[in-house]
Parts: sequence; structure tokens; C-alpha cells
Amino acid sequence: MSLLTVRDLQVSFDTPDGEVVAVNRLNFSVNAGETLGIVGESGSGKSQTAFSLLGLLAGNGRVSGSAQFEHQEILGLSEAAMNHIRAEQIAMIFQDPMTSLNPYMKIGQQLREVLMLHKGMSKREAHVEALKMMDAVKIPEAAKRINMYPHELSGGMRQRIMIAMALLCRPKLLIADEPTTALDVTVQAQIMTLLRELQSEFNTAIILITHDLGVVAGACDQVLVMYGGRTMEYGSTEQIFYQPSHPYTRGLLKAVPNLESRAGELNTIPGNPPNLLSLPKGCPFNPRCQESVASCFQDAPELISFTGGRQRACHLSLQAEEVA
Ligand SMILES: Nc1ncnc2c1ncn2[C@@H]1O[C@H](COP(=O)(O)OP(=O)(O)OP(=O)(O)O)[C@@H](O)[C@H]1O
Ligand SMILES: [Mg+2]
Repeated sequence: MSLLTVRDLQVSFDTPDGEVVAVNRLNFSVNAGETLGIVGESGSGKSQTAFSLLGLLAGNGRVSGSAQFEHQEILGLSEAAMNHIRAEQIAMIFQDPMTSLNPYMKIGQQLREVLMLHKGMSKREAHVEALKMMDAVKIPEAAKRINMYPHELSGGMRQRIMIAMALLCRPKLLIADEPTTALDVTVQAQIMTLLRELQSEFNTAIILITHDLGVVAGACDQVLVMYGGRTMEYGSTEQIFYQPSHPYTRGLLKAVPNLESRAGELNTIPGNPPNLLSLPKGCPFNPRCQESVASCFQDAPELISFTGGRQRACHLSLQAEEVA
């Protein structure tokens, strides 16, 4: 069952140099207990997509379209109604954990406050629940660490605290924005495993935002590939990995390290993500596309939906098996 259904989501910012469309008519949905990966390079609009859903855009930002969460429209909700949704229904782990943890407050107090505010618990009840959640995210010696300040913990432990804080009120949807980027590879893998375990324990749906398609493989059911604020491709993880339909996805896949590629052999897509204020004519990816044809430089390809809810915006012909 679809928990979140997003239609024509658009985010624009007024800037001194003109309007920037950071998120351009996205359509996607997330089922209860499932994981959607949103993948794309820096500046592709991943974080703004998440912020717009939670009413957290900067003052110069505007959102349009529709986002139905359990059949309730959540775009344009009042601040009070949104406060209720945030944390209790949809929680977010932000890209930089230090911006959302208060450096001057002990971990325990920060966790307790969430429960006292949103769940009306007493300080003692909140303390017990906070310890339980620290155990759930596998923080060793929780009783000791609950009295520490954020800076006394390692990056991996801080990320576990962020996850604990996000899950305290048992949200139905967790948005995790680059939850492992700042961590070394071993800790990354531990955090991803933890997220999967917690997901099955609490039946939480997850939107996992990452620039690394490699992270998506074992973690996501569906994948949305973004570039320049637009959907390039959307489909099941299997389709995206085994039948990538867009040259941009194929480029990202080549950049995923695997056992066969040795150090130094890793491909990145040549060139840089586009400047949203001066997008190229036609497809925004055309300056970097290895497979472009003449029409790519004329018109932006429309987003087409096809077999099994899959979407793609590309002028190249579809493979026979994709339209079957
Ligand atoms: N307040 C703002 N005013 C103008 N433009 C903005 C504003 N906030 C974001 N943008 C633009 O929106 C675009 C998308 O930003 P977003 O933060 O969603 O990227 P991202 O995909 O999360 O990238 P990263 O991987 O670096 O986190 C960027 O090009 C950015 O410059
Ligand atoms: Mg971001």
C-alpha cells in the first residue's frame, strides 16, 4: 500500500539572478515498510525534495504539486499541523549530523525532550525509552553514553544517535539524507545493516538519499535517479541495476566500485552537474552524455511512464524488453 504518493512536485527558489527550479515535476511513491533510494550527483535536488515534503524549504523557496501521506495532503500544511507530522509520522536524518544535534546538550536530554514534547512522557519514562532506543541502535554502554555530549562520541556513534532520535516516535516514514557519507566504509556498512534491521523491526518506510548508487543495491526496493532537479529514471532496484534505461544511470553504475575494478580504474562521468540558472537547450544531461543524438540538443525529453510503473526521460529508443 502506498504510504506517500508524490505528484508533480516542484521546488523553485527566487535568486538575484532569476528563478532556480531545483526540483522539477517529480512523481514517485513509497510503500509502507519499503525503501526508495533517491540518487544523483551533488546539486541534483535530492535534499530539496526531502525538505519540501517536510515544509523545511528556505525562505526564498516555493513548492507546488501534491504529496499525499496516508491520503492526507501534506504540502502547504500549517506550521502546527506540519510539526505534528514531523517526528511523529515522518522523521528525517539530516546530511550533517552535527547540525541537528545540540553540541551543548547531553545526548540523554536531547532524546528525552523529543519524547516529552511529542509523546507527553514524564522525564523518567522518557529516560527509560531513550535507553531502550539506544540499545536498539546498538550503542554499547548506553547507560554511560546517555550522559555524554555529542562531541564525545565517534562519527558512527553520533549517526546511531541521530537514527535513534529519528525513530523515537516510531515514524511511518524515515527520510535519511546521506546517512553514511561522512563515515568510513566499515562503519557505513554497519549503519546500513542497522537501518535494515530497524526497518523490519518497526516496519518503517525509508527514503534513502545518496549520491552513491552502490549504497542503494542492498538497501532499496525502488530507485529514483535525479539530474538537474529532474527524474532521469525511476524503477525497481533490479531494473535500475540490471536494465538501466538512461545513459546517466549507466554512467553512475560505472562509477560504483566492484570487486573487478582495481584502484584507479574507477570511472566517473566526465564533466560537471549543470548550472540550474543556465541549463543547456534540450536534455540537461546532453553535454556529458556518451550516447546523445541530434534530438537531445533540441528538446528536453518528456518523462514517460512505462511497464510496471517505470519512468524515464530520454530520447533514445527503448530496448524491446523494456516496452514488453
Ligand atoms: N535557498 C536556495 N536558493 C537558491 N537555490 C537553492 C537554495 N537551496 C538550494 N538551492 C539549489 O538547489 C539545488 C539542489 O540542491 P540540493 O540541496 O537539493 O542538492 P542535493 O542533490 O541534495 O546535493 P548534495 O548531494 O550536494 O547534497 C542546488 O543547485 C542549490 O544550489
Ligand atoms: Mg543534499
